[in-house]
Parts: sequence; structure tokens; C-alpha cells
Amino acid sequence: MKNYVLLGAMLALVACGQSSGDKAASAGAAASDIKMIDLVTTQDGSPLKIDAALFDTPAAKEFITTGKNPYIGNEEAIKGGKKVFNLYSCVACHGGHAEGAVAPGLIGPSFKYAKNATNKGMFETIWHGTNGGMGAKGLGLMQPDTPTEGLRPDDVLKVQAFIRSNSTITGNE
Ligand code: HEC
Repeated sequence: MKNYVLLGAMLALVACGQSSGDKAASAGAAASDIKMIDLVTTQDGSPLKIDAALFDTPAAKEFITTGKNPYIGNEEAIKGGKKVFNLYSCVACHGGHAEGAVAPGLIGPSFKYAKNATNKGMFETIWHGTNGGMGAKGLGLMQPDTPTEGLRPDDVLKVQAFIRSNSTITGNE
């Protein structure tokens, strides 16, 4: 009987060792192996490549696998997004509530680029800009010589939560 107990304990140990090994392997692969949706530029619809490792928060991971922005309606995220909206001068061109100023309003429901009614489309526009006066705001794209300048994906999702908080649409429809 004793032997069976010992054997059982040993098997349990072996099983434990294996499963934690598997977990470590899959966690290591996760950053590069997540199934990313295809993003395209607003300029001409060509593929928009962004390093998977930049999608480093739960919200950013959810966005890049589903195209949905989980921050919509989240008060904390909206507050954070308002700060980004001011810090990156969106406010100067688009107005304090994204209602429009020298640049078009961002609250919809109709947009200059129809795709901005969706959070995926608006993410692409904010990240990579347009041909008509909207500069790219994505990390490393604002100033080619300053790779640390620009919004991280998580910031874009928060700024979008702020924009949509002034809007009648959520963009996740
Ligand atoms: C220097 C002025 C300027 C700043 C700063 C600016 N934008 Fe814009 N934005 C524009 C202009 C001009 C357009 C219209 C572009 C066009 O017609 O192609 C635009 C268009 C957009 C659109 C598409 C609107 C539509 O109707 O399709 C979005 C979304 C947007 N901007 C978001 C932002 C966000 C978010 C920020 C801050 C991170 C920002 N913009 C900062 C000038 C600006």
C-alpha cells in the first residue's frame, strides 16, 4: 500500500512539472503567436503592420484579436483618454469634446472616412494618419528620429473611449 502512495506522489510531481513547463512555453510564444486581425492604412488600404509586442495590455490584446475596444464606456479609460487627447494636441484641431474645430468633428455618426464609425477603422486612422492633414500618431511614426514619440496601442484605445464618450455610437456595433 505504501508503495502505491509513493508512486502516486511521484506521478503527481511529474505531471506538475510537465504542465508548468507547457505553460511557460505557451506564455513565451503568446506575444508573437496571438492571432492578429489585419489592419490597413486609411491612406490607401495597404497592410498596416504593428509589432505584436506593443499590444501589451489585456485591452490591447483583446482589440488586436477581435477589433473591439473594451475601454468604451469605462470611466477610468475615458479619463485617461481625455489626458492623451489634450497632451497630443488632438484638442487643438478637433475641439475639447471632439466636436470639431479647424479639423472635422469625431463624434459621428457620419465621418469623412466612413470606416471611422468602427473602432478598428478609427484605430487605423489615428495610428497611421490620412492623406488630408491628419498626421500619424502611432508610436515611432510621429517623428521618424524619435522612436519613443507617439501613442501606444493602449493609449489609442483610451483616446477612442474618450472620443466615443461624446458620441452617440460606441464603434463596437
Ligand atoms: C494639426 C491638426 C490635427 C491634430 C493635432 C490632430 N488631428 Fe485628427 N485630423 C486633422 C485633420 C485636418 C483631419 C481631416 C483629415 C483628412 O481630411 O484627410 C483629421 C481627421 C481625423 C480623424 C478622421 C475623422 C473622419 O471624419 O473620418 C480622426 C479619427 C482623427 N483625426 C483623430 C485625431 C486624434 C485622436 C488626434 C490626437 C491624437 C488627432 N486627430 C490630432 C487634424 C488634426
